[in-house]
Amino acid sequence: MNIPTQYQITEAIHQKKYLINGELKTWTGKTTDVFSTISSTENYQPTLLGSIPYMEQETALEALTAACGAYGKGQGLWPTMKVAARILAMEKFASLMKNKRKEVVKCLMWEIGKSLPDSQKEFDRTIDYIYDTIEEYKNIDRDSAKFVKSGGIHAHIRRGSLGVVLCLGPYNYPLNEAFALLIPALIMGNTAIFKPAKHGVLLFSSLLEVFQECFPKGVINIVYGRGRQIATPIMQTGRIDVLALIGNSKSAIALQDEHPHKNRLRLVLGLEAKNPAIILPDADLDLTINECISGSLSFNGQRCTALKILYVHNSIKDEFIKRFSKRVDALSYGNPWDNDVELTPLPEPSKPAYIQELIDDALSKGASIMNVKGGETTANYIFPAVLYPVNPTMRVYEEEQFGPVVPIISFEDIQEPINNMADSSYGQQVSLFGKDSATLAPLIDTLVNLVCRVNLNSSCQRGPDVFPFTGRKDSAVATLSVYDALRSFSIRTFVASKDNLDNNAILEDLLSSGKSNFVSTDYIL
Ligand code: G3H
Repeated sequence: MNIPTQYQITEAIHQKKYLINGELKTWTGKTTDVFSTISSTENYQPTLLGSIPYMEQETALEALTAACGAYGKGQGLWPTMKVAARILAMEKFASLMKNKRKEVVKCLMWEIGKSLPDSQKEFDRTIDYIYDTIEEYKNIDRDSAKFVKSGGIHAHIRRGSLGVVLCLGPYNYPLNEAFALLIPALIMGNTAIFKPAKHGVLLFSSLLEVFQECFPKGVINIVYGRGRQIATPIMQTGRIDVLALIGNSKSAIALQDEHPHKNRLRLVLGLEAKNPAIILPDADLDLTINECISGSLSFNGQRCTALKILYVHNSIKDEFIKRFSKRVDALSYGNPWDNDVELTPLPEPSKPAYIQELIDDALSKGASIMNVKGGETTANYIFPAVLYPVNPTMRVYEEEQFGPVVPIISFEDIQEPINNMADSSYGQQVSLFGKDSATLAPLIDTLVNLVCRVNLNSSCQRGPDVFPFTGRKDSAVATLSVYDALRSFSIRTFVASKDNLDNNAILEDLLSSGKSNFVSTDYIL
């Protein structure tokens, strides 16, 4: 195997440490081996990367007790601290985290099969996200560094913390998406319990000490194990104020159902999607094919924003399918560190068989594989199959494949894809390809009510992170963006003071003495 020296696995990471209540404790219990589906040898075999603790209820509840202790029912050090002090902690975290790029990027490649440039991008984007969040929080803080007066009352309105957050991220962006929840949650004064996803776990090993060094004890607690053993008992206590999860709606619903006081539970959820591309007769085919290739197959289609179904107008379908299929077959497959690699091993060992099931089901109901290499299988991969004609009776029409298979439907009347989208359980984004503004206008006016982002002549994507990332129906609850996430993890709370001499004297004293961390018109630069 031709693995560059710096990416070879010379020593397994046996992750014994975990972070609870500011202490890096040593795990002595049962462990789970972590394997990569990427082989280190010529004869295929999964590579042992290391192991992680197999924790259960007892440790989960220990982490919960620590997070609840640090929040102190709103009286803890962290939620009552000056905004500037929390910002300082976060700045220190970002600057120390930067030193861990090499370790994290190597783990991303081995654990989830993400290509080297994309792994580097995930790390760098996350660092940018932290700095952008800090800047945005300063803006929010500056905007609230004032009093408003109405009905004879002076009000000092700010955003306050919500409580204890249970944070669960997905395996496809194990660092970025987890941090897109965790960072705003923490900076707003909440405390958190974080459990990494099923793949992309060892990459946090080098970050544990950074968390420990930067945040007061109990503010962030990191545990390992299966959702059922960790998240379920935590939810059952009713002590979680926010469930922050990027993943699948079934787990999100199951976890909510465990919470005994649903009205107290806030939800920040990024869930599944089935983003369509709609390709109109006048679409620029070169551009459309490029966008549909990256939209449906970058990171093997394992993105919630991936294009998961393509609607092509009858008048151009033959041309589109012929050229698109050829481009799919030309995509290069290899290991994450290989130069210019486009398709990489699938981290879930069961994924090739699942995709094969979708293909078999579609074939049995009248679809064909339109590309030569479609469905070719190896130990850790199944080559993307372009399936046509797909119809609503097929599993691949309904299910979020989250992997390398591209279903295509042709249409005569634009109402067909629109009606399908209106009836779909999902509502994240759409890509609309066409040139004529008179045709596009009414479509845009409808599509904005079916999804939350209409991408004109481009594939779907989450970024840039300053834009709102959300969805309708089963695709999301709450909105994430650098700005929106700070709002999602906080609540407006304020001090009201009737305009009279005594109250005004108190306010003036509070402001000039700096005695209160909340009542403050300090301008954070
Ligand atoms: O898995 C869903 C991600 O949020 C997608 O992000 O569009 O930047 O790949 P992306």
